[in-house]
Amino acid sequence: MVAGAFLAPGRAAVYSQHAFAVYPLATQARGARSIVVPAKDYGHDLAAMLAAITPETRVVFIANPNNPTGTFIPGAELEDFPARAPRNATVVVDEAYTDYLPPELRYDSVAWLKKFPNLVLTRTFSKVYGLAGLRVGFGLMHPGIAELLNRVRQPFNVNSLALAAAVAALGDKKFVAKSARMNRAGLARLERAFKTLELEFIPSCANFVTFRVSRARAVYEKLLRQGVIVRPLANYDMPDHLRVTVGTPRENEKFLKALRTALDD
Ligand SMILES: Cc1ncc(COP(=O)(O)O)c(C=O)c1O
Repeated sequence: MVAGAFLAPGRAAVYSQHAFAVYPLATQARGARSIVVPAKDYGHDLAAMLAAITPETRVVFIANPNNPTGTFIPGAELEDFPARAPRNATVVVDEAYTDYLPPELRYDSVAWLKKFPNLVLTRTFSKVYGLAGLRVGFGLMHPGIAELLNRVRQPFNVNSLALAAAVAALGDKKFVAKSARMNRAGLARLERAFKTLELEFIPSCANFVTFRVSRARAVYEKLLRQGVIVRPLANYDMPDHLRVTVGTPRENEKFLKALRTALDD
């Protein structure tokens, strides 16, 4: 909806290399230009992103944590980005994975909304809440931006069943805490195993981890044949990496067993 409201031919969006694939799609769909800023250590290079903003830039997309790299920008570094960006550039901080952050990395971006009228925060029920199939999420922003997004929003874009589930999910703190805890344990397990297997990985703050492996496409197919689906990342400019989602303890072990088999072949 942000792309729908603010992008058009002659305008541009800034985002990082290896950033979530929906940003280029949304930008292209509006006929706008993408300004892709080289990543730093696989993460967003905020200084370079600020420098890349041109007069025709209307949107900056920042995923924090990012998919598929799992990289994270501390709140203190991100906070003044909207102030330093031009007022007519809407800064979207996509917080789809924010609920997975360990307590010491949490930051209060909602408080920033009072200071920055060009800031949009996006959240989803697809991740820690486990409601991906219901297609429901929300955004937080200045009422002026919300008014513009309402003009491009389809009426009744979220169904009543999804809304009821979302409200219930927001109140289910126990489930969210359990999901986040299980995820952190799973991440630690996978990262430990990658170290043992001597596979390079990108330390992750999300619910997946991206690792480097030679012949990534072949390994992906060998995993697939053993019933394990991981994500090849060639279209993210990372042809030598695969991304695996954290599962239940049993699923994590199944993946690791399948991976060892795939690497031994
Ligand atoms: C960075 C990021 N933002 C947003 C989403 C949106 O998820 P959904 O459309 O299911 O709400 C995803 C899902 O993969 C994501 O990785």
